[in-house]
Amino acid sequence: MSQFNLDQSKCNSCGSCVSNCPLGHVEMINNYPQTIPETSCSSCGHCEAGCSEGAINISGPNLEPPLINISSEISPEDMGNYMRNRRSIRNYKKNTIPRKTIEEIMDIVRFAPSGVNQQPINWIIIEDPEKVKVLAGLCIRWMEKLVDSNSPLAQVLPMESLIKVSKTGSDPILRGSPHVFIAKAQDDQGSAVTDGVIALSHLELALPSFDLGSCWAGFLKMASDYEPIREFLGLKENELFIGALMVGYPDCTFYRVPKREKLSVKYI
Ligand SMILES: Cc1cc2nc3c(=O)[nH]c(=O)nc-3n(C[C@H](O)[C@H](O)[C@H](O)COP(=O)(O)O)c2cc1C
Repeated sequence: MSQFNLDQSKCNSCGSCVSNCPLGHVEMINNYPQTIPETSCSSCGHCEAGCSEGAINISGPNLEPPLINISSEISPEDMGNYMRNRRSIRNYKKNTIPRKTIEEIMDIVRFAPSGVNQQPINWIIIEDPEKVKVLAGLCIRWMEKLVDSNSPLAQVLPMESLIKVSKTGSDPILRGSPHVFIAKAQDDQGSAVTDGVIALSHLELALPSFDLGSCWAGFLKMASDYEPIREFLGLKENELFIGALMVGYPDCTFYRVPKREKLSVKYI
């Protein structure tokens, strides 16, 4: 539970905190904002962030500002180039990411939006490349089981060829990445799945600015209900595996942006 603290000596009574509040939790009383007790606060911090005078401070036991707070303007051209040049990386260098860099990246990711600012996502970050190999091996075991039992899923996905590739010593599942970042949540939370996918997308977009790359680990996601995988990851019964990215330093170069289909948009 967070607390709305107002420094009246700084407040210019502009009312931006009232208009920025998504839940009608703040109102002007005698020219100063106050919280309305019977309403709730999602701790989104928009009242604080939008106050030109710095008169509002939202405090709470678990609230922390970003490590670095630099505001910069990125041109649409720079942003477009950056986002279009993001690529799924399937070849990684062996070197691992320093813990400090991981912490800096995750300090960006934790500012991803979430429904009613619930921030339900927590993470498993595999730091040890040997553990990534074990995880990839468990995915292959899951596929072997499906192939052996003639599961319809094994017909839809190229499981037999993935198993074959894995037997040659290469890793078609996690692509030899040194790390895997997994977004998880308690399964009873409202928009947790959407929030997790958004958080993973934030992670994916932040990584190239650290000279890192990633690829969505779709096969791992499919295998994530396989009990040996849940056990390996230490997932509790009520915990939901939302999605994962392989992460590491790219060992490949892309010289141009690949073509994509024309966008289909209906303007109404
Ligand atoms: C949900 C999802 C799951 C994916 N799973 C895999 C995967 O298991 N292995 C893989 O090599 N690529 C995977 N990809 C990467 C896609 O193939 C890739 O995004 C697509 O080909 C477009 O390439 P780009 O990301 O470089 O633009 C996945 C992507 C998404 C969004």
